[in-house]
Amino acid sequence: MDLEAEIRALQLDSADEINGVVTPEDHNSVEVEKLDKAEEDLKDEVQESVPVPDEQQASEDHDQVMLHPVHNPAKAKEKAAQEKAAKEEAEEEAEANKKRHLNVVFIGHVDAGKSTIGGQILFLSGQVDDRQIQKYEKEAKDKSRESWYMAYIMDTNEEERLKGKTVEVGRAHFETQSTRFTILDAPGHKSYVPNMISGASQADIGVLVISARKGEFETGFERGGQTREHVQLAKTLGVSKLIIVVNKMDDPTVGWSKERYDEIEQKIVPFLKASGYNTKKDVVFLPISGLMGINMDTRMGQDVCPWWSGPSFFEVLDSIEIPPRDPNGPFRMPIIDKFKDMGTVVMGKVESGSIREGDSLVVMPNKEQVKVVGIYCDEDKVKRAGPGENLRVRITGIEDEDILSGFVLSSIVKPVPVVTEFVAQLQILELLDNAIFTAGYKAILHIHAVVEECEIIELKSQIDLKTRKPMKKKVLFVKNGAAVVCRIQVLNSICIEKFADFPQLGRFTLRTEGKTIAVGKVTELSSAASSA
Ligand code: GTP
Ligand code: MG
Repeated sequence: MDLEAEIRALQLDSADEINGVVTPEDHNSVEVEKLDKAEEDLKDEVQESVPVPDEQQASEDHDQVMLHPVHNPAKAKEKAAQEKAAKEEAEEEAEANKKRHLNVVFIGHVDAGKSTIGGQILFLSGQVDDRQIQKYEKEAKDKSRESWYMAYIMDTNEEERLKGKTVEVGRAHFETQSTRFTILDAPGHKSYVPNMISGASQADIGVLVISARKGEFETGFERGGQTREHVQLAKTLGVSKLIIVVNKMDDPTVGWSKERYDEIEQKIVPFLKASGYNTKKDVVFLPISGLMGINMDTRMGQDVCPWWSGPSFFEVLDSIEIPPRDPNGPFRMPIIDKFKDMGTVVMGKVESGSIREGDSLVVMPNKEQVKVVGIYCDEDKVKRAGPGENLRVRITGIEDEDILSGFVLSSIVKPVPVVTEFVAQLQILELLDNAIFTAGYKAILHIHAVVEECEIIELKSQIDLKTRKPMKKKVLFVKNGAAVVCRIQVLNSICIEKFADFPQLGRFTLRTEGKTIAVGKVTELSSAASSA
């Protein structure tokens, strides 16, 4: 009997059954290694001498193997392989039946209440108890920041607590009936927009927090406030749906006023439309009080707010729909961070395809081949993971110092393109001091986890804003508000995709001196520099 062929068939079958977790292209390249692993595992199982008490069947087989090792080792191996495959299949089925997972980023102007809402969610979902709340209350009081105690749940470092401002993107988990959520609590302060960009680039949906308190909505929404900048960045970074929570409705200057709520909604809708959101399909508005926990996990009563009969925040989160992602695409995971821990661990969000323990992948742009030895989703070790998951992946074959954030863990057969030049369509938002935008303009490019200095080397054509078509006449410079097609160059090689193929790896922002001056999409990868 051709045992090798049998094992090979088994391995491939079991891989096929989990909905193409391994892509057809990946099959061939990982096949040999998988076979090696299968044989190693088999050896382990066959040699194991202590039977597992509650697995009667398995123990009988072990006995057989131990008693008659010479008579029929091939059959025993075959059986062990079958059992192993069945066990893996059951594990994978359990994982596949898990609730869907969504990353939700909290954005909005400084002090709108993002961290307070995040903290309240953890409290309402039972992850923080009353004793801990009392401790935070005391600490907040000691720092003369009484009302910040809920925010302290998310704002964990000293600087954040002292100043009452989030700096690093806070991360937490909670579940509704249908969905597991990872909360990303972005900072609102304009100094930390790069951190907000990194949070938003990992998110599927956004919660835009708006303070209804007198004066606060106005400051946040005016030019220079972060409400506008965050919305534009979120759209560009691929946040397809927005929940707009009008917060602080309990504040004495608001008192659950319908007029105030309507005023805010009416002012924001045109801006959301102009930023590319379909306000009927992609946007939901609702009033809450994050600090009091009202209209959060359950609907509020008429006694609190007589005019609202709509859903609670958790209900909206639970029912939000985003387009399903294809788990069979070529694997892409932009690396946002890495560290050393029994090998090299890389962190990031899977933007395309699926990953499985034992896979062989490549780290781009270095082209270093690596092997996946462990996958961690939240706190759990998992065998495989699909698109949209935030993961820590332990890999061998590369040192952590050889990885930079912005590198991409990628399929070997269809690796992510590497370029130093590309063509893009840009929307100019606001140039510094109304400068003009022309060839030679330098800025910082933010695309997925990449942050690189770049230079505009050619303006190709200006886009007519009415027809959205390129204009015929030659363009030498453009001003605020213009849309333009241009060629962009970076010093170091970067891994990007055309927006049309992989939106998450093909949209970007340009910033100068800490301000977002343009948002854009990649339309062409420069063929000369591409080394895919
Ligand atoms: P940054 O991280 O700096 O961007 O701020 P943030 O949006 O995370 O705001 P944070 O949660 O730190 O809250 C800022 C202030 O608003 C705190 O004093 C909160 O107590 C207060 N606040 C937040 N939510 C509410 C609310 O629902 N009602 C009232 N009255 N105050 C609130
Ligand atoms: Mg905060």
